[in-house]
Amino acid sequence: MTEKEKEKQGISKVYFVGAGPGDPELITVKGRRLIEEADLVIYAGSLVNPELLNGLKAELVDSSQLSLERTTELMLHALRLGRRVVRLHSGDPSLYGAILEQMQPLEAAGVDVEVVPGVSSLFAASAALKTQLTLKGVSESLIITRPAGTTLEQDELASLSKHGSTMAIFLGTDKIREVTKSLKLPEETPVAVIFHASWPDQRVLVGNLQNIADQVEKAGINRSAMILVGNVVGRTGFRRSHLYRDR
Ligand SMILES: C[S@@+](CC[C@H](N)C(=O)[O-])C[C@H]1O[C@@H](n2cnc3c(N)ncnc32)[C@H](O)[C@@H]1O
Repeated sequence: MTEKEKEKQGISKVYFVGAGPGDPELITVKGRRLIEEADLVIYAGSLVNPELLNGLKAELVDSSQLSLERTTELMLHALRLGRRVVRLHSGDPSLYGAILEQMQPLEAAGVDVEVVPGVSSLFAASAALKTQLTLKGVSESLIITRPAGTTLEQDELASLSKHGSTMAIFLGTDKIREVTKSLKLPEETPVAVIFHASWPDQRVLVGNLQNIADQVEKAGINRSAMILVGNVVGRTGFRRSHLYRDR
């Protein structure tokens, strides 16, 4: 049997699919097809827009209440019954998705896995700001990170910020004050916090290192938001790309 035929029959394979950042139109065509064909979709709780799941024939299971062992068990059980299984992650599965620890027990049980990339919330956040994450003459590099440790004791934010690159900080809005304090950058450095990027209730707060924590706390945002740090947020000071030089 060819790979395509196996795929068609959903044989012993679990698809780890990126759901995109929220807007149901921001899942890939392949991801859409796979969730439509699936019999079991285990999805990443509130980070996946329920609209994406509406009308699917699959049994839907919210993974936020499940242990890793239980999730694995559910997937293996479904496969044994010949069911097609999709594990649906928010954004792109490779960013803070904890997929390896889910894939390895499946592989150990002889199950094939495939990762279908998705649009990360990072890109929905930059789209909301209508900016670039890399911008000629401003920052040519992007650091993707998150605060580490409950009191940021294992944190690398300070040392990473010294590069002066654009920073995309995931999972950090509940610690926004500590995060902004820890960055070794001038106080006027632009910072944006984008809540629910690409969802209907998206909110964009723009400020600087000195005042963004006040704005975020006042707005009551403490989850599902991206922190973007750097002069790209300001959308100024760039040089034209050679791509568009006069010919
Ligand atoms: C467990 S991580 C998953 C990230 C996901 N794999 C991705 O690529 O977007 C969850 C964090 O991603 C960010 N996030 C997820 N969806 C978001 C959205 N629609 N808008 C802004 N940030 C979001 C938040 O920082 C949230 O705390």
